[in-house]
Amino acid sequence: MRRIIFFLSLLLLSGAFLLFLSLPGNTAENRGYAGSESCKDCHEDYDQSYRISVHAKKAIPGAPANRQECESCHGPGSQHVEEGGGRGIGVFAFTRNAEGRAKSGKCISCHEESKVLAFWNMNRHSTADVSCDDCHSVHGRKENLLKTEEPDLCFGCHRDIRFQTNKQSRHPVNEKMVTHQKLTCSSCHDTMGGFSTEPVGAFSIRTSFGTNKMIRADAVNELCFKCHAEKRGPFAWEHAPAAENCLHCHEPHGSNHSNLLVTKQPLLCRNCHDIPLHPSQPYTSFQRFLGTGGGKNRFIGRSCLNCHQNIHGSNFPGEAGHVFVR
Ligand code: HEC
Ligand code: HEC
Ligand code: HEC
Ligand code: HEC
Ligand code: HEC
Ligand code: HEC
Ligand code: HEC
Ligand code: HEC
Ligand code: HEC
Ligand code: HEC
Repeated sequence: MRRIIFFLSLLLLSGAFLLFLSLPGNTAENRGYAGSESCKDCHEDYDQSYRISVHAKKAIPGAPANRQECESCHGPGSQHVEEGGGRGIGVFAFTRNAEGRAKSGKCISCHEESKVLAFWNMNRHSTADVSCDDCHSVHGRKENLLKTEEPDLCFGCHRDIRFQTNKQSRHPVNEKMVTHQKLTCSSCHDTMGGFSTEPVGAFSIRTSFGTNKMIRADAVNELCFKCHAEKRGPFAWEHAPAAENCLHCHEPHGSNHSNLLVTKQPLLCRNCHDIPLHPSQPYTSFQRFLGTGGGKNRFIGRSCLNCHQNIHGSNFPGEAGHVFVR
């Protein structure tokens, strides 16, 4: 009985609260639109920066210019205007403490159909509460309305990747390439969508592996083949790890070992191959570089690669192809 009374009073209370909220003047958001002309009086600079952007173009059907202009994103602002403006009064602001989801929601109300956002809900940025305005500034005219150019945009939050791309061997995301098409983080990552279903590597020497890193392909190898097509084969003799996942041997961003390799020679190979009676041990005082016997080509220079040259796979018929020597 007591319980029923408790719930009844709770119901009454919440009803009264809702009534209170719906009274005019008390609504968090007054439904009235003030029109962008009124905003201009007090926010000249924001008006300017909006006018030069794609959103202000009347020629684009769904653009804010053809909807509520400023108020398409900031919400109806007549209360804000009536009260002479101010922080926290009657408009939606994209502030730091506003929830990411709420901020993105303002953009998605129009961009739901945008192709780049098809998988936004499953995207790691979205689930980590990163919002559109963390990367975009709609008050401006930069390419794609980005706050900063890549890769600096991304480095702002991903310092560890900046560190990697400064290493000796790297994918050229930092350099402005003259002869090549410039490589950006977005060449490989779909930062607003993207998910892959790649299986976890079975005998990987790397730890993080096979998860969704928003790469622009269904699997790591498919991503690499987009630019390194010659590694796709088909090969008469496949090297199992290359066919499975390039990241068995390569770092995607940067490495202190040449060719983006995860480790140096001959460790790279020896992680998976332990072959006795094979020229893979270091020189000793008996078997020196200039010595006789099986000493040559051991642990020097390209090490295993001195002989196993076609490490990604070979089409050479017979044993030499089978062991990637030719
Ligand atoms: C009478 C002057 C005035 C008018 C008109 C006006 N504002 Fe403001 N607005 C202000 C002032 C003052 C602030 C506080 C700015 C500050 O503290 O830096 C403000 C703050 C804001 C903020 C930040 C709010 C927050 O909570 O942080 C937004 C967004 C904003 N205005 C948008 C608009 C829009 C959209 C319009 C038109 C519908 C508009 N303003 C019309 C004066 C005005
Ligand atoms: C497409 C959505 C969009 C439109 C249209 C838009 N804004 Fe904004 N506005 C934002 C976002 C997002 C921010 C956060 C800062 C940024 O992105 O540059 C912002 C920031 C602001 C701020 C600063 C708020 C603060 O916290 O200090 C003001 C003031 C403002 N806008 C006013 C306007 C006015 C005036 C117009 C119309 C002339 C307008 N905005 C049109 C999305 C929009
Ligand atoms: C009233 C609808 C509307 C709202 C709200 C809106 N946009 Fe847009 N936006 C458009 C339209 C229409 C275009 C042009 C067509 C396109 O590229 O989809 C556009 C284009 C863009 C572009 C492409 C710019 C370029 O250079 O090609 C970006 C980025 C963008 N919007 C980001 C945002 C962000 C971030 C927000 C939220 C702060 C937002 N938009 C809110 C309608 C809207
Ligand atoms: C982590 C950073 C990041 C976030 C968060 C982000 N974007 Fe983007 N956006 C980018 C980058 C980088 C590009 C340009 C490269 C590309 O298209 O992938 C871009 C491009 C766009 C484009 C233009 C695409 C085209 O080619 O026409 C639109 C529209 C857009 N973003 C809207 C949004 C909206 C809306 C949100 C929030 C739901 C959002 N973005 C969140 C980084 C981001
Ligand atoms: C405002 C901060 C911020 C910006 C800017 C940003 N990111 Fe992120 N990013 C995050 C957060 C937070 C996560 C999720 C947590 C994590 O895995 O580190 C994340 C996750 C990722 C992941 C997936 C990691 C995983 O474990 O699945 C990739 C890939 C990524 N970001 C790439 C980019 C790229 C490329 C850009 C630039 C276009 C960018 N990010 C810009 C904050 C940011
Ligand atoms: C050549 C393609 C390529 C480029 C360019 C690239 N990435 Fe990646 N990135 C990858 C791959 C592949 C992975 C997955 C690595 C894994 O599974 O271990 C990855 C993983 C990530 C992760 C998750 C790292 C982790 O350890 O969980 C982040 C964050 C990231 N990249 C950010 C960036 C940023 C920022 C840039 C631009 C500076 C960038 N990437 C450029 C291919 C690339
Ligand atoms: C968007 C295109 C693109 C994608 C995708 C891509 N690469 Fe690259 N890669 C490049 C470019 C450009 C270079 C620099 C080539 C040059 O300097 O001539 C490069 C260089 C390399 C190098 C040589 C690095 C050095 O130190 O010389 C290796 C190894 C490599 N990539 C492996 C990979 C792997 C593994 C993947 C998949 C995770 C991949 N790449 C995905 C464009 C790409
Ligand atoms: C078993 C380890 C291993 C795997 C797996 C592997 N690579 Fe390599 N990769 C190497 C080695 C070792 C080199 C250096 C070759 C040399 O110095 O001749 C190299 C060099 C490269 C280079 C730069 C030199 C060149 O030949 O163009 C690219 C690009 C490359 N690999 C791409 C890939 C791609 C794409 C994959 C996945 C299909 C892959 N690698 C898988 C070991 C591997
Ligand atoms: C991630 C583990 C891994 C790494 C790293 C690796 N391999 Fe392999 N390799 C394999 C597997 C698995 C096979 C297939 C073995 C089989 O079929 O019995 C193979 C096959 C071979 C074969 C053919 C052997 C045969 O009998 O068919 C040669 C030769 C070879 N690898 C050389 C190398 C060299 C040289 C390196 C270093 C550049 C290397 N591998 C790095 C896993 C690896
Ligand atoms: C002097 C040239 C040479 C060097 C250096 C060399 N190999 Fe070989 N390797 C061969 C030849 C030739 C064969 C095929 C004949 C045989 O089985 O001995 C072979 C066969 C293999 C096989 C397949 C046969 C088996 O025994 O399972 C593997 C695996 C292999 N090498 C790995 C390596 C690794 C790992 C290194 C570096 C640590 C290396 N090789 C260094 C020439 C070389």
